[in-house]
Amino acid sequence: MRWRSVAELDAERPTQGNHLFYLATPPNVFIPITQLLKDVGLAQSAGTAWTRLIIEKPFGHDLASAIELNQHLQAVLHEDQIFRIDHYLGKETVQNILVFRFGNGIFEPIWNRNYVDHVQITVAEELGVGARGGYYDRSGAIRDMVQNHMMQLVALTAMEPPVAYDAESVRNQKVNVLRSLQPIDPLEVNKWVVRAQYGAGQVDGHEIPGYLETEGIPAGSTTDTFIAWKLEIDNWRWSGVPFYFRTGKALPTKVTEINVMFRRPPLMYFDSRQSRRQKVRNVITLRIQPDESIILSFDAKRPGPQLDVEQVSMDFTYSRAFDGQISDAYERLLLDAMLDDRTLFIRKDETELAWDRVTNVLEGWSIQEEIQRKRGKRLLLPQYPAGTWGPTEAEELLSRDGHVWRNPFMPAKPEP
Ligand code: BG6
Repeated sequence: MRWRSVAELDAERPTQGNHLFYLATPPNVFIPITQLLKDVGLAQSAGTAWTRLIIEKPFGHDLASAIELNQHLQAVLHEDQIFRIDHYLGKETVQNILVFRFGNGIFEPIWNRNYVDHVQITVAEELGVGARGGYYDRSGAIRDMVQNHMMQLVALTAMEPPVAYDAESVRNQKVNVLRSLQPIDPLEVNKWVVRAQYGAGQVDGHEIPGYLETEGIPAGSTTDTFIAWKLEIDNWRWSGVPFYFRTGKALPTKVTEINVMFRRPPLMYFDSRQSRRQKVRNVITLRIQPDESIILSFDAKRPGPQLDVEQVSMDFTYSRAFDGQISDAYERLLLDAMLDDRTLFIRKDETELAWDRVTNVLEGWSIQEEIQRKRGKRLLLPQYPAGTWGPTEAEELLSRDGHVWRNPFMPAKPEP
């Protein structure tokens, strides 16, 4: 490949002098690259042409480094040139959370503590870390998924209606949710957050080695491949309604879903004799991927002389309702950056607030590691066999509050 200068490309193609730089690079070169762009005069927009920068995650590795990176970027560029990308926001079904909530009259009135008992969010991946061990071991699920994608899903599910559907109004409301997330006392981290690592196991019929046996993972690594977190949102709408989320590698299937679990009726006349039914509630499931859909689960009487009640569902499935392919999240976001639409990009204060809450957890973990080190012991994370829904500690996080995780419905895979 022949390298060409930006000036040559400008002359060759109809760029009109507009430049969009996309930093999908290792994070340790974010600062040097942007400094060099400034030094050679490529960071400024000239005349009517624009210059913008998309920056990938990880955006810092804790609160202090995120603040440092933000300060640096703002010294070399204007905030309105900076597009912090989170590809989850480019997913059609993630954007549909707002349309579902605020574009319809029937859901929003019940989307609050008066009707909702708790919320569960699952972002599960089948694959292990594979060949990405080098990157992953420095991040873990908490930095790779929680600080960005999970926090965004929580913010969109919990936010208040924006004044208008524009970048600042939407982001203001997401920031309010992040600000309302109750900070965790690092010394009590285990009460709120479970971390674990996968051991060897089978996923979808394939053997996968345990995390610690994977190439590129240092012996005795304490990097988390699974996180479950109980969040409390201290605001008028959600006070007393826990948001539980979990994410992990090497789980039974790849699925992302948000389950809004409603309160039970005051009297359960139709409670069946089967004790398992006592756990059943009305649920609205926002299935983000893979089979994008919205499912309402409720009780119905089974036909017949007995009063047998069973949970049934009504569903809306994207592929049945709309023709055509759902476009890739990145296509949408790159186009938005070119069109100068920041609605689906992360603002400086969003990333810092999310890091603030995550950094409390990181501090709690480093205190635990330090205690073990002083005792001359090595910290071992709870393990879960690959292909299962995580460690028993994650089940306990919910069972302490009388809840169980709602595992996504997994359609049978076709025979090979
Ligand atoms: C990325 C993480 O941001 O998101 C990966 O770095 C993860 O580890 C991926 O696999 C998941 O994205 P998606 O769109 O496949 O759910």
